[in-house]
Amino acid sequence: MSETTFDIPPNLAKKLRTARHVAVLTGAGVSAESGIPTFRDAQTGLWAKYDPQELATPQAFQQNPRLVWDWYAWRRELVARAAPNPAHIALAELERHVPQYTLITQNVDGLHQQAGSRNVVELHGNIARTKCFVEDVVVEHWDETSDIPPRCPHCGGPLRPDVVWFGERLPEAALLAAQDAARHCDMFFSIGTSGVVEPAASLPFMALKQGATVVIVNPESKPSPGPTLYGLNGPAGTVLPALLRAAWQ
Ligand code: OAD
Repeated sequence: MSETTFDIPPNLAKKLRTARHVAVLTGAGVSAESGIPTFRDAQTGLWAKYDPQELATPQAFQQNPRLVWDWYAWRRELVARAAPNPAHIALAELERHVPQYTLITQNVDGLHQQAGSRNVVELHGNIARTKCFVEDVVVEHWDETSDIPPRCPHCGGPLRPDVVWFGERLPEAALLAAQDAARHCDMFFSIGTSGVVEPAASLPFMALKQGATVVIVNPESKPSPGPTLYGLNGPAGTVLPALLRAAWQ
């Protein structure tokens, strides 16, 4: 675990130590230190270089399935080369400390699971899975031909990544689990997300409204000292290990 230090407010460490249900929402920033680009960071974000309307909508896939398939294949390779960083590891460790824990992620990279987190609510799917564009069912095996994208072995329709695109509904069970956790937790962490994509963006507000303490971890967040809203202004890979040390060492 990283030994870089970050000053955690003592009252926040105490709140975490005594919390009964902790909910955590993560975004692309949590995987940035694993070398996976975020979406909206000004110079390095994917949406600074690529147009989401051409790559991450059902219409884009219908118009140019090969381009979309190849772009996701490139991202899948980036993910396959990446390893969990100290932020993912700290969040897996947190699960072992608190009585009830819900980890909700907008990320599709599976790095929380690789770090050892067990119950991960994936709001935007998982890039390692593939599904049929026509039947909307997950497909595990298909014939490797020269077709790009490959064809569904059942219906011959084009295969696509099992991720949520703009204009699509989130998996219902995942969204309900996330909203339930936001309504019932006593602490809610929003980590490495710009908080602009709904419905995930509303979760911290839901938690705040129900009386939970909300903690934002983001190098771009405004530092805020509590008592119900804390802004921890630093990279997740430094802040989260420091938070765990402050609470349990
Ligand atoms: P964004 O790229 O919008 O935001 C990433 C956030 O992480 C920014 O606020 C950064 O300041 C912050 N950040 C960068 N490095 C960090 C670090 N080391 N530690 C902590 N925070 C850091 O990504 P998301 O909010 O995840 O959806 O984007 C939400 C959704 O929009 C994605 O799931 C994706 C995207 O379009 C779809 O593709 C449907």
